[in-house]
Amino acid sequence: MKIRDIQSAEKLSMLTAYDYSTAKYIDEAGVDMILVGDSLGMVVLGYDSTVQVTMDEMKIFTQAVCRGAKRAFVVADMPFMSYHADLSEGVKNAAQLIKCGAKAVKIEGATDHILNVVRRCVESGVPVVGHLGFTPQFVNTLDGYTVQGKSYETTLGILRQAKALENAGAFAVVLEMVPEESAKYITENLCIPTISCGAGRYCTGQVMVSDDMLGKYPDFCPKFARQYGNMREFITDCARRYDADVKSGKFPADDEIFRLSENEAKQLRNGKGKIYEYTGNNK
Ligand code: KIV
Repeated sequence: MKIRDIQSAEKLSMLTAYDYSTAKYIDEAGVDMILVGDSLGMVVLGYDSTVQVTMDEMKIFTQAVCRGAKRAFVVADMPFMSYHADLSEGVKNAAQLIKCGAKAVKIEGATDHILNVVRRCVESGVPVVGHLGFTPQFVNTLDGYTVQGKSYETTLGILRQAKALENAGAFAVVLEMVPEESAKYITENLCIPTISCGAGRYCTGQVMVSDDMLGKYPDFCPKFARQYGNMREFITDCARRYDADVKSGKFPADDEIFRLSENEAKQLRNGKGKIYEYTGNNK
C-alpha cells in the first residue's frame, strides 16, 4: 500500500503490531496499515504509560514488524521526547525509524515546534501521520485519560490543529478519544484522511491496539476497543495444560524426541565405548 492509496481510500483499517509474527498475520489478513505504536510500552513492556518508551526500543520493535509486513503500510510512533526538545534531533530520530523499515512516522500534537518538525521531516522525505485529540504522550498535562473536543470551541481547536498539520505536510491524522460528531466535522473539513481511535464511525479509517482486539492486555480494555478474541484465556489455558503434561510425564511424547540409532543405543545400554567411569560424584 502507498500513500496515494491511503489518501484515496474510502475506508482504512489499521492495527498495531510490535513483533514479527503478529505483523505477518495482520499483513496476511489484508489490513491496510500497521502501527508500531508506542502503546508497546504498556502492552509489551509493562510500563504504566507510553512516556517511558525510548528510541532504542522503538527501533527494535519497528525492525521486527517491518520484517513481517510485506504489503501493509507500516507507521512507527516517535516516542516521547524524541522530537520535543530539538528540531534537528527530531528529524534525525524520524529518519532512524525510516531506516528501520517504517514507511512513515506518527507524531503527537500540533504546537509551532511540532509543526516545524513535521515540515522538516516531510521536506527530508519522511512521511508523517499526525495525532490529535487525546495524545497519550501529554497525559501528564492533559489531566489524565480524558475525551477531547467535547465542546464546539474545542472541536474547532482540534480542527485548526489538524488543518495546520495538513498544511505542514502530514498525509493523515489520528483522532483519539474525540466525540463522533466532532470527529465527523473535522473529517469533513480536511483534505487528508482521519483515522479514528475512539473517535466514532465517520473518520476515514479505524485503528485499534491489537492486544485489545485479541483480549491479551490484562490491565484494561478501553470502551472504544472491540475484543475479537480472548488470548489471555487461550495463553493461560495452554500454559496450564503444558504444566500439567510436564508434571504428569505426558510431555514430551514419543514423536517429540530425538532417538539414537539402535546400534548406538545398544552400546550405551551395554556400557561399551565408555570414556570414563561415572561415579555419581562430580568432584
Ligand atoms: O501507540 C498507539 O498504539 C497509538 C494508537 C492508540 C493510535 O498511538
